[in-house]
Amino acid sequence: MKAKAQAPSNIALIKYWGKYDKKLRIPANSSISFNLSEAFTTTSVEFDEKFESDTFIFNGKKAKPAETERVSKHLNLLRNMSKIKHFAKVESRNNFPSSSGIASSASGFAALTLAASSSLGLTLSEKRLSILARLGSGSACRSIPDGFVEWKAGKKSEDSFAHSLYPADFWDICDLVAVTEKGSKKIGSTEGHFLAQSSPFYKERILGMDKKIKETKSALKNKDFTKLGELTEAEAVSMHSVMMTSTPALFYWTPKTLEIMKSVVDWRSKGLETYFTIDAGPNVHIICQSKDVKLLRSKLEGIKGIKDVLINRVSNGAKLLK
Ligand code: PMV
Repeated sequence: MKAKAQAPSNIALIKYWGKYDKKLRIPANSSISFNLSEAFTTTSVEFDEKFESDTFIFNGKKAKPAETERVSKHLNLLRNMSKIKHFAKVESRNNFPSSSGIASSASGFAALTLAASSSLGLTLSEKRLSILARLGSGSACRSIPDGFVEWKAGKKSEDSFAHSLYPADFWDICDLVAVTEKGSKKIGSTEGHFLAQSSPFYKERILGMDKKIKETKSALKNKDFTKLGELTEAEAVSMHSVMMTSTPALFYWTPKTLEIMKSVVDWRSKGLETYFTIDAGPNVHIICQSKDVKLLRSKLEGIKGIKDVLINRVSNGAKLLK
């Protein structure tokens, strides 16, 4: 009763910030993302009657009680679907810095859902896995399907899951993550989602979401990089305006974040077509076409204070490992 799974993180082009149903993690709006080839979590889960409690080892160390409790809660969902009620040993490893703007909870809960369900002997559809992953961490539902993904918001748990729009090899665009900080962020996304509604811009943002989703899907379909980039960049700024104007205000950007954003705009004005997007952290994701990766990487490496540059292609979703 042991299984191992690997799931990628994903970067949202159209983002999820604010919930329709807090408990069920149903988002206020649909979102669009792609999976990241070089930012993933590998998780093994073993259920055994000899265990006296659930244990969670994260990146080689015993996890904090609150983290273990969140994992346990998620395992309960799966145990409730199975005849096996044993405790589990969960070992999880990220190949990228956690809690710093790369969605570690997304890859984490997608990998956990797949590994745990498989070790319980459950054979679940992609839709079911996506719904379950969402209950662990919203954006984790987008790390289950392959390639370019849409998470349709829905109004009920059964209707709120992600599906693949296009496979990973549909379009060879890339996401270069400029890592500026490796530490944990102070206010995580779970808490942040609760604050969204306190921003005076929140309602306005939600009203415009359907149009954005439609336009982004059309840009993807036509492989219109300029349109996709413009929508992506404006969307990130829109989400951060809500964050910065909520009560209390959330500032995820640091001076380094802003410096990189400005550099991207500057490079673009000189002919290097690239666009930024930023999640709930200081790191900057830079979306580009694969032909520009080399040049962009050297430009980013020229900015003082960038700790790492991760180069991601679009990848498949969660998979079981032998
Ligand atoms: O799934 P959560 O609760 O970690 O929220 C994700 C929030 C953002 O990364 C900021 C946006 C997104 O859609 O990925």
